[in-house]
Amino acid sequence: MSIEPISFRLTAEHPARKATDVVVVGIFDDGTLSTAAAEIDAASGGGLRKLLVSGDISGRSGRHGWIPALSGVTASRVLAVGLGDARKFDRGKFVRACRDAARALRGGPSRHAACYLVEIEVDGSDAAWRLRQAALAFDFEHYRFDAMRKAPEHDTLIDSVAFRAADGSELERVQAIARGVRLARELGNLPPNVCTPAYLAEQARTLWSAHSGVEFEALDAASMRELGMHSLLAVGGGSVHPPQLILLRWRGGADPDAPPIALVGKGITFDTGGTNIKPSAGMEEMKYDMCGGAGVLGTFAACVTLQLPINLVCAVPAAENMPDGAGYRPSDVLRTLSGKTVEVLNTDAEGRLILCDALTYVVQRYKPSTIIDVATLTGACLVALGTHASGLMTHDDGLAEELLDAGQKSWDRAWRLPLWDEYQSQLESGSADFANIGSRWGGAITAGCFLSRFVEKQRWAHLDIAGSASTEGRKGSATGRPVGMLTEWLIRQAG
Ligand code: BES
Ligand code: MN
Ligand code: ZN
Repeated sequence: MSIEPISFRLTAEHPARKATDVVVVGIFDDGTLSTAAAEIDAASGGGLRKLLVSGDISGRSGRHGWIPALSGVTASRVLAVGLGDARKFDRGKFVRACRDAARALRGGPSRHAACYLVEIEVDGSDAAWRLRQAALAFDFEHYRFDAMRKAPEHDTLIDSVAFRAADGSELERVQAIARGVRLARELGNLPPNVCTPAYLAEQARTLWSAHSGVEFEALDAASMRELGMHSLLAVGGGSVHPPQLILLRWRGGADPDAPPIALVGKGITFDTGGTNIKPSAGMEEMKYDMCGGAGVLGTFAACVTLQLPINLVCAVPAAENMPDGAGYRPSDVLRTLSGKTVEVLNTDAEGRLILCDALTYVVQRYKPSTIIDVATLTGACLVALGTHASGLMTHDDGLAEELLDAGQKSWDRAWRLPLWDEYQSQLESGSADFANIGSRWGGAITAGCFLSRFVEKQRWAHLDIAGSASTEGRKGSATGRPVGMLTEWLIRQAG
């Protein structure tokens, strides 16, 4: 699996004297040139402004112009990116401009770029923030999923990007985060006939097999039965690919025996809905139903790459939800690892049934200081928040604050939904301790309520990434979220 990101560098070079394939500069729509654009303009004897006046390039948002072989400029070409209205230029517009620039470079002749957008002042951001966002934007747009093709597509993709910034300490972080995002995307994009529970476990094992300090373990179905994880087993029961509970441990903390932070990610390698089968339209998107697990593995990769001085445990319950004679049924009652029983009222609400056993196991075995689960859990979350925000649910206001903040910093944002007691009664059951679904309304929240019953007295948060983890359609892709947010949060825990 190739997950190596673009290589990011610093440059102190004047943009007109930088020897590279392309120099990227920004222009506002009132004709104001960014510092680097003005430097290019001066070096080329007003060449940039001339093109602006003639209308060949524009500062409008979403627009860009190519200027090959500009006299007085060493680079083969200049890419002038429109930044829009200077007074409205904010963090979102900055990210958009970086993505526009990166996309414009796709398929062109350039392999090496120098990006001078990061020195543009943006309210509420510093140079490190802008460098991280620019680098991640370039890496995001220059990732291609071609693991399954006979021959990779011929588009030229960027190999390296240099940034003019004073402080290079952010480079190492962004390189590690980009690698984690790539891992999450690649695992998410792999088809479910390849990316089975055993495949996920194998990847988790080999990725870090050469890495000292990482402990890997995977529980198979037999060990799960012995332990009493009947809920996780039931979900995987209809598949010829037996379930796995993948466990990774990183003991980087000053005290390696101190309670770890735990991340738990939903790893449904394909979700047909089971006996409560899903409608056929769009079912193929359910290959992304392991993106919580992939996000947790990507975050783990970033933390290990950075050698963060924290103790971290990652758990990925992996299973395939298939309709089958050996599969579980609506009305089945399952005994979970916690001892609590659950009445299955819908086999398509399977994510919570694999997460509950993983959560119980992690709490019992590792006694974590904080536990965060990540899951493509509900269509209801997609309805509530759309694709831009992940849903955050927790009883802990402090933890909510930290995660929302890390989301802002990484521009991988979440929005909080309530977990009030009033919602809990929706889970009442006539034959078990509770049911696996609520009533019609508030489905993202009742799913969170279900999970909360397995982490009582824990410092716990739940991230529903049903909307944020992938994009739709034929050319859809895993996004690698929430690796950016979680890695940022963990970096802060280390600091
Ligand atoms: N994996 C789905 C949730 C999902 C839906 C993720 C759309 C991404 C896009 C989950 O397992 C599921 O099927 N949830 C059900 C729950 C319902 C039966 C209570 C849902 O959201 O419809
Ligand atoms: Mn489902
Ligand atoms: Zn699912």
